[in-house]
Amino acid sequence: MGLLSFFNKELAMDLGTANSIVIYNDQVVIDEPSIVAYNKNTNKIEAVGKRAQLMDGKTDNKNIETVRPLKGGVIADFEMAQHLIRELIKMTNISRSFMPPALRMVICIPSGITNVEERAVRESAEQAGAKEIRMIHEPMAAAIGIGIDVLEPNGNMIVDIGGGTAEIAVISLGGIVCNKSIKVAGDEFNENVIEYMRKQHNIVIGVRTAEKVKIAVGSAISELDTPPDEFETPGRDLLTGLPKTIFVNYKEIAHALDKSIARIESAILETLADTPPELAADIYKNGIYLAGGGSLLRGLDQRIKSKTKLNVHIAEDPLRAVARGTGIALKNFNKFSFLIK
Ligand SMILES: Nc1ncnc2c1ncn2[C@@H]1O[C@H](COP(=O)(O)OP(=O)(O)O)[C@@H](O)[C@H]1O
Ligand SMILES: [Mg+2]
Repeated sequence: MGLLSFFNKELAMDLGTANSIVIYNDQVVIDEPSIVAYNKNTNKIEAVGKRAQLMDGKTDNKNIETVRPLKGGVIADFEMAQHLIRELIKMTNISRSFMPPALRMVICIPSGITNVEERAVRESAEQAGAKEIRMIHEPMAAAIGIGIDVLEPNGNMIVDIGGGTAEIAVISLGGIVCNKSIKVAGDEFNENVIEYMRKQHNIVIGVRTAEKVKIAVGSAISELDTPPDEFETPGRDLLTGLPKTIFVNYKEIAHALDKSIARIESAILETLADTPPELAADIYKNGIYLAGGGSLLRGLDQRIKSKTKLNVHIAEDPLRAVARGTGIALKNFNKFSFLIK
């Protein structure tokens, strides 16, 4: 009997600020928004993930509140984060079997997380049945998921743009050599869209509509080779209070997002400036890798390329690169010394 068989269940979890993904047996079994809906009166958890998202602002029950426990790259709500972790593990159905699972887990956490927060994540996983747990920092998991050999003495820059934060890191020899985390990412882009619509078009839109606008006509540059069609945006007229729709094009959204993207560019330039020269030479050769949902923004790679004069590559399936990397880390549970015990 091999040593591995003692742990009959193994899970990799990417605990993202926007989306959480669980991998079991090399398959993505859970891919859900990191949202918890709970009843304020009874303290009962009503739903997590997509079902919780659907309740957001749409339930007649005033006592039901939806929260995103991992806002801004940190754990904003401990208790709800614990519920989220436990429910995600439950949703995998692995504990349904006759024998209680001897569960081993690798959990990917934002690199800005404090020790206290890290402990809270660990305790939630333990309460959900995990017997052996390792954590991995997000940029490291992204790098592994992209297919970079992180153990090599070779510098690589990863820019992971998620919901709450953009994490920029230089990785070499299994370590994060320098990194920067800024709270400018997908959520901030949505806020920029909301503000733009209010100021330019006198129309109030919700976060979910802003997200649709961003995906339909979001752009980091104002000249695209293949422009998307204008998007019909529903909202409420600021002056009359009546429902109204207006058409927006990508150039407008490029304008709305410009300042936020400039902040990400500055953070990349600062991290490059902090990079030791030998590793900077590697990055010059290897280029920059983009991961996370934010990297799907049209023209972002092009814009970063012209700003840094470096090659820019977008990870394959960037929304799942971190989860893939966490899954690979799970397979190397005892080999990757950078996994946090
Ligand atoms: N096609 C797209 N264009 C722009 N942004 C996108 C696109 N698809 C997803 N996103 C954004 O990516 C973010 C989620 O990315 P993700 O990597 O899952 O974040 P996290 O790791 O923080 O959970 C959200 O803000 C979402 O709006
Ligand atoms: Mg992520």
